[in-house]
This record gives sequence, C-alpha cells and structure tokens, in this order.
Amino acid sequence: MIPYGRQDITQADVDAISDVLNSDFLTQGPQVPAFEVSLMSATGAKFAFAVNSATSALHIACLALGLGKGDVLWTSPITFVASANCGLYCGASVDFVDIDPASYNLCPIALEEKLKFARLNGSLPKVVVAVHLCGQPCDMKAIHALSVEYGFKVIEDVSHAIGGRYLNQPIGSCEYSDITVFSFHPVKIVTTAEGGAALTNDKALAYKMALYRSHGITRDEALMENVSQGGSYYEQVDLGFNYRMTELQAALGVSQMTRLSEFVKARHQLAERYYEKLADLPITLPYQLPGTYSGLHLFVIRLNLGKISKTHKEVFDELRANGIGVNVHYIPVHLQPYYQRMGFKNGDFPNAESYYTNAISLPMFHAMTYEQQNEVIRVLTNVIISE
Ligand SMILES: Cc1ncc(COP(=O)(O)O)c(C=O)c1O
Repeated sequence: MIPYGRQDITQADVDAISDVLNSDFLTQGPQVPAFEVSLMSATGAKFAFAVNSATSALHIACLALGLGKGDVLWTSPITFVASANCGLYCGASVDFVDIDPASYNLCPIALEEKLKFARLNGSLPKVVVAVHLCGQPCDMKAIHALSVEYGFKVIEDVSHAIGGRYLNQPIGSCEYSDITVFSFHPVKIVTTAEGGAALTNDKALAYKMALYRSHGITRDEALMENVSQGGSYYEQVDLGFNYRMTELQAALGVSQMTRLSEFVKARHQLAERYYEKLADLPITLPYQLPGTYSGLHLFVIRLNLGKISKTHKEVFDELRANGIGVNVHYIPVHLQPYYQRMGFKNGDFPNAESYYTNAISLPMFHAMTYEQQNEVIRVLTNVIISE
C-alpha cells in the first residue's frame, strides 16, 4: 500500500538518536533547547516550547491565553479534533466557523458574520484557532484584523504547514497571531515520532506556557513567590502538566529540521506533477491562496461526482483495494458523536459538510518516488474513468 503520508528517516537521524541514548540525558538535556532554537530560527518567532504533542501545545496555548469556564473557542469544522478539544480541556465551550469553499480553511467572511451576531448576543469568542489545512495558509491578515476589531486571541494551528510562507513571512512567525502550534507526528512534514511545539513573540505568554508544560514549576528565582532557598529549590506557582518532549524526540527533530526546505520542496515537485497529470480528470485540484507557499502536508482532491459514475465511497474503496492508501481529512468535527451530543448537527456548516462528501487525500510525502506517484495517477485515472 502506498501510504498517504510517512516519515523519512536517514542514518543521520538514527545517529542523532543513538548519540542521545549514549549520553547522560534521555530527558531535560541540551537537545530540547536546541530543537527549540531550530524552530525559532526557521520561523522568526521569539519563544518556542517543545512538548510531547500538538494536542498538548494547543492545551497550554489555550491556558496561557486565559481560556476557561464561560469562555468560547471557535475553530474550523474541517480539522483534526484536537484543534477543538483544547477548548473543552480548559472548561470553555467550542463552536465552529464554516470553511471557505475554495481554500477549505476557516472562512474570514463567515467569521465576520458570526462575530457580528455574537457581539449582539454577548457571546464573542475568547480564542479562534485558525488551522492551515493541508499546509495552505489561512487568510491570516483578515483574521488578525477581525481579532483586533472584536477582541479575541488567535492561535494558528500550523500542524500541516511548517516550512511554508505567508506574505513572505515563514509560517509560525506569529506575525498575525498570539501563538502558533506545531505537530511532529510521523505523517507530518517534520517528525519527532510524537511531538509538538508552541511558539510566541509574547514574553508573558511564553512564561505561562513554560510553566504549564512542566507541572507549573519554576526554578527561576525571579518568578518565585518566596525567597529562593538556593540549591535544588523550586516552586510550583501554578497547576501544570508533564507535557515535556524527551531528548530522543528532540534530537530527531534537530536532525529533521536541517532538511526542512528539502522536505517542502520535494512536496511541491510532487504537487506540480499531480497538477499536470490530473488536470483532465473530473476532480478539483487544491487551490493556492495568492502570496502563500504551502507546506503541502496533504494533497486533497475533490471528486466532481456529477461527472463520475461512482460514489465517493466506491472511489475511495477501489483506490484502497488497488494499493493506494488514500485518506479523508477530515470528518467534520461537529458531526463527531461527542460533538453531536452538544447539539451540533448536519446542516450547521454546509461548506464543511459538502467538502466531506467528495474530498480524498492522495499520497504525498517526501520520500515518495515518481514511480509510486505514477502508480497513484494510473490507478486514480482508471478508477474514475472506468464504469
Ligand atoms: C491540524 C492538526 N492539529 C492538531 C493535531 C494534533 O497533533 P498531535 O498528534 O501532535 O497531537 C493534528 C494531528 O493530526 C492536526 O492535524
């Protein structure tokens, strides 16, 4: 099966991990700060906190922004559930903003309409999580302008987008958001096995995220409530978690980050071949927002079902049966049973629901060969064209 995504591990990655295994520190050593430095230099953000997943990063980001009971978090329905769940972890409620039918990202026009209504109702969100689906940056300028007008905070979920650019700024720079959150799961562009990070330019947010990552404990005398007793003295000044990344993961991350631009370039070369070779099929190919360079974590096509004699499920199943490991990103979050129990239902976000009826993620990963890609193109063409 040709997977839709997978890691690309070299001997240099293996050596980096084995060096850590032979060192003094398996956790809380020099590799985590080194990985954080590599993230800051790739993005230009001033502070970075590596954690054990993007889910943890989203949680500490929401906590740092003060999200809590009685507050509301909004995000896109077309994302992984973690982008919404982080609001619930904090005791806040969650709502969604429908997607833009061309980019599949949270639609700034729908956002503005919903904000106008929420202002009248007194139900404005405290936090909006903007997800760069597939690596395609959201219209961050528009979202940022609305955040200023309506007074909410912005988290960019850039789990799909490391190595991309938005208006000539690297993705993750926090130019148009308060915090950016990354995932380093093996299907993503850069991997640390499991892993994530939260980046910010704001010192106060950075201080809070550092605490929440590790039990709410500080060893910094300036942050203590009592006079330091020196030596191994530390204070717990807030309630945090153990969301730390290990040295093994961070060493892998440092090594992988040296190939970031190579990873993204290879994805663009594969995408160009898909654009060229799939142009005549009854499908919609991904849209690229002007002024952006996608990280291209995913390559999503949409079937023009009016011109295909098969259903979405039939096409999907035939591709899988023929060795093409396609996937669907994502089932709209509001239609998950857990969210439906909160009252969300079919019909709430029509663009997201329509996307789900015909979207398919084709294989796209750095180590994918042109032979593998040709096989995807051949099988897809046969499945779509044949009766
Ligand atoms: C957009 C998005 N946000 C958050 C996550 C959660 O990432 P992690 O598995 O690192 O917690 C994912 C993972 O698939 C994702 O795709």
